[in-house]
Amino acid sequence: MIGKQGAGKGTQCSKLAAALGIAHISTGDMLRSAVKAGTEFGIMANEYMERGDLVPDEVILGIVEERLVQADCRDVGFVLDGFPRTWAQAIALDDLLAPDGVKLVINLDVPTEVVLDRLSSRRVCTGCGRTYSIYKPPSSDWTCDDCGHEVIQRADDTPEAISRRLALYDEVTSPLISWYEAKGKLVTIPGDRDFNDVAAEIAVAVDSAK
Ligand code: AP5
Repeated sequence: MIGKQGAGKGTQCSKLAAALGIAHISTGDMLRSAVKAGTEFGIMANEYMERGDLVPDEVILGIVEERLVQADCRDVGFVLDGFPRTWAQAIALDDLLAPDGVKLVINLDVPTEVVLDRLSSRRVCTGCGRTYSIYKPPSSDWTCDDCGHEVIQRADDTPEAISRRLALYDEVTSPLISWYEAKGKLVTIPGDRDFNDVAAEIAVAVDSAK
């Protein structure tokens, strides 16, 4: 799934993966787990993430390749959230999945003014990662309804980091859209609608691709 920061990739990929019983591979979540664990790798990745920069390709390719060869991905399938984001990543993914390459690319299309509001209002659980917003907070005092951990603002949801992330999306990631379109793999779905309407249209696109 491809789309601007805040388009709803994480939200929709987790619904889709649960519905299909396949793995949800989010490079952002994998990096945040490493940051939380305080590993050397996490400390390095955090420097890029906090600024809103992309983590270097060779690092991302290493973690994605390692994950995609695991039995659940290899035998059942997976949905990729936030990968690929650069030419190098897209080409490496094609090589990894040769001869067929990716089956379907969903471009979740949301206007910039909408994602700006979503990102600045988003809050996330420090325990399970559940997403909330200032418009839909947890039921009691910024503790997660599911696991009871604190709900906070993501370190890269600051105005400076948001603007850097969106600029990088336009410059580096959005050219992949026409590349996948030319390969006949792309379906564009408007994401500025009710969560369930977006999910239903994604399910139809996935069924057609199967
Ligand atoms: P990552 O975690 O992937 O962040 P991102 O791309 O910035 O995407 P977001 O998580 O911000 O947005 P989303 O589209 O998933 O939206 P969400 O569902 O949360 O990456 C973080 C960082 O890691 C990167 O900046 C980079 O440094 C590094 N990184 C990751 N992958 C990399 C790669 N491949 N290469 C290099 N570096 C990499 O929704 C947003 C909000 O909107 C939520 O509050 C949600 O509730 C709300 N919302 C969603 N859908 C709707 C709807 N239909 N209506 C109303 N509100 C909605």
